[in-house]
Amino acid sequence: MIVLKSKDEIAVMREANLHVYETLNALEQAAVPGATTWDLDRIAADELKKRGLKSPFLGYHGYPCVLCTSVNEVVVHGIPSKKVKLKEGDIIGIDFGVIHKGYVGDSARTVGVGKIAPAAQALIDVTREALEVAIRAAQPGARVNDIGAAVSAFVEEKRYSVVEEFVGHGIGTRMHEEPQVPNYYLRSATTRLRPGLVVALEPMVNIGKKHTHTLADGWTAVTDDASLSAHFEHSVAITEDGPVVLSRPA
Ligand code: MF3
Ligand code: CO
Repeated sequence: MIVLKSKDEIAVMREANLHVYETLNALEQAAVPGATTWDLDRIAADELKKRGLKSPFLGYHGYPCVLCTSVNEVVVHGIPSKKVKLKEGDIIGIDFGVIHKGYVGDSARTVGVGKIAPAAQALIDVTREALEVAIRAAQPGARVNDIGAAVSAFVEEKRYSVVEEFVGHGIGTRMHEEPQVPNYYLRSATTRLRPGLVVALEPMVNIGKKHTHTLADGWTAVTDDASLSAHFEHSVAITEDGPVVLSRPA
Protein backbone atom coordinates (compact mmCIF):
# COMPACT_ATOMS: atom_id res chain seq x y z
CA MET A 1 0.00 0.00 0.00
CA ILE A 2 1.35 3.39 -1.03
CA VAL A 3 0.54 6.28 1.28
CA LEU A 4 0.38 9.69 -0.40
CA LYS A 5 1.04 12.71 1.79
CA SER A 6 -0.83 16.02 1.90
CA LYS A 7 0.95 19.35 1.48
CA ASP A 8 0.73 19.84 5.26
CA GLU A 9 2.31 16.44 5.89
CA ILE A 10 5.08 17.21 3.41
CA ALA A 11 5.71 20.49 5.25
CA VAL A 12 6.20 18.52 8.49
CA MET A 13 8.50 16.08 6.70
CA ARG A 14 10.50 19.07 5.47
CA GLU A 15 10.95 20.15 9.11
CA ALA A 16 12.02 16.63 10.07
CA ASN A 17 14.54 16.50 7.26
CA LEU A 18 16.03 19.90 8.05
CA HIS A 19 16.85 18.53 11.51
CA VAL A 20 18.57 15.65 9.71
CA TYR A 21 20.44 18.03 7.42
CA GLU A 22 21.71 20.20 10.27
CA THR A 23 22.80 17.18 12.26
CA LEU A 24 24.62 15.70 9.26
CA ASN A 25 26.47 19.01 8.92
CA ALA A 26 27.66 18.70 12.53
CA LEU A 27 28.63 15.07 12.01
CA GLU A 28 30.55 15.87 8.84
CA GLN A 29 32.55 18.48 10.78
CA ALA A 30 33.26 15.89 13.49
CA ALA A 31 34.49 13.19 11.08
CA VAL A 32 38.17 13.98 11.59
CA PRO A 33 41.22 11.76 12.14
CA GLY A 34 41.18 10.34 15.67
CA ALA A 35 37.42 10.50 16.18
CA THR A 36 35.67 7.18 16.67
CA THR A 37 32.39 6.30 15.02
CA TRP A 38 31.02 5.99 18.55
CA ASP A 39 31.89 9.68 19.11
CA LEU A 40 29.77 10.49 16.05
CA ASP A 41 26.86 8.45 17.39
CA ARG A 42 27.02 10.40 20.67
CA ILE A 43 26.97 13.71 18.78
CA ALA A 44 23.92 12.52 16.87
CA ALA A 45 22.24 11.37 20.09
CA ASP A 46 22.95 14.77 21.69
CA GLU A 47 21.41 16.55 18.70
CA LEU A 48 18.27 14.39 19.00
CA LYS A 49 18.01 15.23 22.69
CA LYS A 50 18.60 18.95 22.15
CA ARG A 51 15.93 19.01 19.44
CA GLY A 52 13.47 16.87 21.41
CA LEU A 53 13.37 14.19 18.70
CA LYS A 54 13.39 10.41 18.62
CA SER A 55 15.48 8.08 16.47
CA PRO A 56 13.86 5.84 13.86
CA PHE A 57 17.07 3.75 13.74
CA LEU A 58 17.49 2.90 17.44
CA GLY A 59 15.79 -0.43 18.09
CA TYR A 60 14.78 -0.89 14.45
CA HIS A 61 14.95 -4.69 14.09
CA GLY A 62 17.24 -4.43 17.11
CA TYR A 63 19.63 -1.85 15.62
CA PRO A 64 21.70 -0.55 18.57
CA CYS A 65 22.50 3.08 17.61
CA VAL A 66 20.99 6.33 16.27
CA LEU A 67 23.43 6.53 13.38
CA CYS A 68 24.96 4.29 10.72
CA THR A 69 28.69 4.88 10.09
CA SER A 70 30.04 3.03 7.08
CA VAL A 71 33.81 3.32 6.66
CA ASN A 72 35.66 2.52 3.39
CA GLU A 73 34.52 -0.91 2.10
CA VAL A 74 31.43 -0.77 4.33
CA VAL A 75 28.47 -0.07 2.05
CA VAL A 76 25.76 0.73 4.58
CA HIS A 77 24.60 -0.04 8.13
CA GLY A 78 27.99 0.16 9.81
CA ILE A 79 27.41 0.15 13.57
CA PRO A 80 29.17 2.93 15.50
CA SER A 81 31.91 1.56 17.72
CA LYS A 82 34.57 2.82 20.13
CA LYS A 83 36.91 0.45 18.28
CA VAL A 84 36.53 2.17 14.91
CA LYS A 85 38.83 5.18 14.92
CA LEU A 86 38.83 7.36 11.81
CA LYS A 87 42.14 8.01 10.14
CA GLU A 88 43.34 10.37 7.44
CA GLY A 89 42.31 9.07 4.02
CA ASP A 90 39.23 7.11 5.15
CA ILE A 91 35.83 7.75 3.66
CA ILE A 92 32.74 7.46 5.83
CA GLY A 93 29.08 7.19 4.97
CA ILE A 94 27.01 8.91 7.64
CA ASP A 95 23.34 7.93 7.64
CA PHE A 96 20.96 9.62 10.07
CA GLY A 97 17.25 9.87 10.69
CA VAL A 98 14.79 11.54 13.07
CA ILE A 99 11.16 11.22 14.05
CA HIS A 100 9.59 14.69 14.23
CA LYS A 101 5.85 15.16 14.92
CA GLY A 102 5.36 11.51 13.96
CA TYR A 103 7.16 11.74 10.61
CA VAL A 104 10.53 10.27 9.69
CA GLY A 105 13.35 12.21 8.02
CA ASP A 106 16.22 10.20 6.50
CA SER A 107 19.39 11.29 4.72
CA ALA A 108 22.98 10.18 4.26
CA ARG A 109 26.20 11.46 2.80
CA THR A 110 29.73 10.15 2.37
CA VAL A 111 32.65 12.38 3.33
CA GLY A 112 36.41 12.13 3.39
CA VAL A 113 38.43 12.09 6.60
CA GLY A 114 41.21 14.65 6.22
CA LYS A 115 42.98 14.45 2.88
CA ILE A 116 41.77 11.52 0.75
CA ALA A 117 43.05 9.84 -2.42
CA PRO A 118 41.79 11.18 -5.78
CA ALA A 119 40.15 7.80 -6.50
CA ALA A 120 38.19 8.00 -3.25
CA GLN A 121 37.11 11.57 -4.00
CA ALA A 122 36.04 10.54 -7.51
CA LEU A 123 33.87 7.76 -6.07
CA ILE A 124 32.24 10.20 -3.66
CA ASP A 125 31.62 12.69 -6.46
CA VAL A 126 30.06 10.10 -8.78
CA THR A 127 27.79 8.80 -6.02
CA ARG A 128 26.64 12.31 -5.09
CA GLU A 129 25.90 12.96 -8.75
CA ALA A 130 24.10 9.61 -9.02
CA LEU A 131 21.72 10.82 -6.32
CA GLU A 132 21.08 14.00 -8.32
CA VAL A 133 20.37 11.81 -11.37
CA ALA A 134 17.88 9.82 -9.27
CA ILE A 135 16.20 13.03 -8.08
CA ARG A 136 15.87 14.37 -11.64
CA ALA A 137 14.26 11.08 -12.72
CA ALA A 138 11.69 11.29 -9.91
CA GLN A 139 9.15 13.28 -11.93
CA PRO A 140 5.41 12.95 -11.44
CA GLY A 141 4.13 10.46 -14.01
CA ALA A 142 7.43 8.63 -14.31
CA ARG A 143 7.76 5.10 -12.97
CA VAL A 144 9.85 3.83 -10.08
CA ASN A 145 12.06 1.88 -12.48
CA ASP A 146 12.88 5.03 -14.44
CA ILE A 147 14.90 6.11 -11.37
CA GLY A 148 17.00 2.95 -11.24
CA ALA A 149 17.48 2.94 -15.01
CA ALA A 150 18.83 6.49 -14.88
CA VAL A 151 21.10 5.85 -11.89
CA SER A 152 22.66 2.65 -13.23
CA ALA A 153 23.18 4.11 -16.70
CA PHE A 154 24.99 7.08 -15.18
CA VAL A 155 27.13 5.04 -12.79
CA GLU A 156 28.06 2.27 -15.20
CA GLU A 157 29.03 4.72 -17.91
CA LYS A 158 31.61 5.96 -15.41
CA ARG A 159 32.79 2.34 -14.83
CA TYR A 160 31.58 2.01 -11.27
CA SER A 161 29.09 -0.54 -9.88
CA VAL A 162 25.64 0.01 -8.42
CA VAL A 163 24.77 -2.00 -5.32
CA GLU A 164 21.58 -3.99 -5.87
CA GLU A 165 21.09 -5.61 -2.47
CA PHE A 166 19.86 -2.41 -0.79
CA VAL A 167 17.22 -0.08 -2.15
CA GLY A 168 15.56 3.25 -1.54
CA HIS A 169 12.08 3.36 -0.09
CA GLY A 170 8.90 5.24 0.51
CA ILE A 171 8.96 7.16 3.78
CA GLY A 172 6.40 8.83 6.03
CA THR A 173 5.14 7.92 9.46
CA ARG A 174 7.25 4.80 9.02
CA MET A 175 10.89 4.81 7.90
CA HIS A 176 10.31 2.14 5.29
CA GLU A 177 7.11 2.37 3.30
CA GLU A 178 6.23 1.19 -0.19
CA PRO A 179 7.47 1.42 -2.84
CA GLN A 180 10.98 0.01 -2.80
CA VAL A 181 13.22 2.05 -5.11
CA PRO A 182 16.08 0.02 -6.63
CA ASN A 183 19.07 1.82 -8.08
CA TYR A 184 18.99 -0.42 -11.17
CA TYR A 185 16.32 -1.11 -13.77
CA LEU A 186 13.81 -3.57 -12.32
CA ARG A 187 11.23 -4.46 -14.93
CA SER A 188 8.50 -5.11 -12.38
CA ALA A 189 8.93 -1.74 -10.61
CA THR A 190 6.24 -0.05 -12.68
CA THR A 191 4.59 1.98 -9.93
CA ARG A 192 3.87 5.52 -11.09
CA LEU A 193 5.35 8.39 -9.12
CA ARG A 194 2.40 10.57 -8.10
CA PRO A 195 2.28 13.93 -6.33
CA GLY A 196 2.25 13.26 -2.59
CA LEU A 197 4.62 10.30 -2.72
CA VAL A 198 7.72 10.81 -0.58
CA VAL A 199 10.71 8.58 -1.27
CA ALA A 200 14.16 8.17 0.22
CA LEU A 201 16.47 7.84 -2.78
CA GLU A 202 19.81 6.32 -1.86
CA PRO A 203 22.30 5.08 -4.43
CA MET A 204 25.25 3.01 -3.17
CA VAL A 205 28.20 2.85 -5.56
CA ASN A 206 31.32 0.65 -5.47
CA ILE A 207 34.67 1.12 -7.15
CA GLY A 208 34.88 -2.64 -7.68
CA LYS A 209 32.14 -5.20 -8.22
CA LYS A 210 28.54 -4.72 -7.10
CA HIS A 211 28.30 -7.70 -4.75
CA THR A 212 28.06 -7.28 -0.99
CA HIS A 213 27.68 -9.41 2.09
CA THR A 214 26.70 -8.78 5.69
CA LEU A 215 29.11 -9.35 8.57
CA ALA A 216 28.40 -11.59 11.56
CA ASP A 217 26.98 -8.61 13.51
CA GLY A 218 23.94 -8.95 11.26
CA TRP A 219 24.16 -5.35 10.02
CA THR A 220 27.48 -4.24 8.54
CA ALA A 221 27.25 -4.60 4.75
CA VAL A 222 30.63 -4.72 2.99
CA THR A 223 31.74 -5.12 -0.60
CA ASP A 224 32.73 -8.71 -1.43
CA ASP A 225 35.95 -7.50 -3.08
CA ALA A 226 36.75 -5.01 -0.26
CA SER A 227 36.61 -2.13 -2.73
CA LEU A 228 35.55 1.32 -1.51
CA SER A 229 31.84 2.13 -1.45
CA ALA A 230 29.94 5.41 -1.14
CA HIS A 231 26.30 6.23 -0.30
CA PHE A 232 24.18 9.36 -0.54
CA GLU A 233 20.52 9.64 0.43
CA HIS A 234 17.86 12.34 0.30
CA SER A 235 14.21 12.28 1.23
CA VAL A 236 12.35 13.60 -1.81
CA ALA A 237 8.70 14.63 -2.21
CA ILE A 238 7.08 14.15 -5.62
CA THR A 239 4.98 17.23 -6.36
CA GLU A 240 3.00 18.47 -9.35
CA ASP A 241 5.93 20.79 -10.05
CA GLY A 242 8.50 17.99 -9.88
CA PRO A 243 10.74 16.47 -7.20
CA VAL A 244 11.43 18.55 -4.08
CA VAL A 245 14.41 17.54 -1.93
CA LEU A 246 13.28 17.77 1.70
CA SER A 247 16.64 16.97 3.32
CA ARG A 248 18.49 20.10 2.25
CA PRO A 249 17.55 23.78 2.35
CA ALA A 250 15.57 24.99 -0.69
N1 MF3 B 1 18.71 5.25 6.46
C1 MF3 B 1 18.75 3.83 6.44
C2 MF3 B 1 17.67 3.32 5.56
O1 MF3 B 1 17.32 4.00 4.72
C3 MF3 B 1 19.15 3.22 7.68
C4 MF3 B 1 18.23 2.48 8.48
S1 MF3 B 1 18.96 1.13 9.11
C5 MF3 B 1 18.75 1.19 10.77
O2 MF3 B 1 17.16 2.28 5.54
F1 MF3 B 1 18.67 0.01 11.18
F2 MF3 B 1 19.70 1.84 11.28
F3 MF3 B 1 17.63 1.78 11.09
CO1 CO C 1 16.83 5.26 3.80
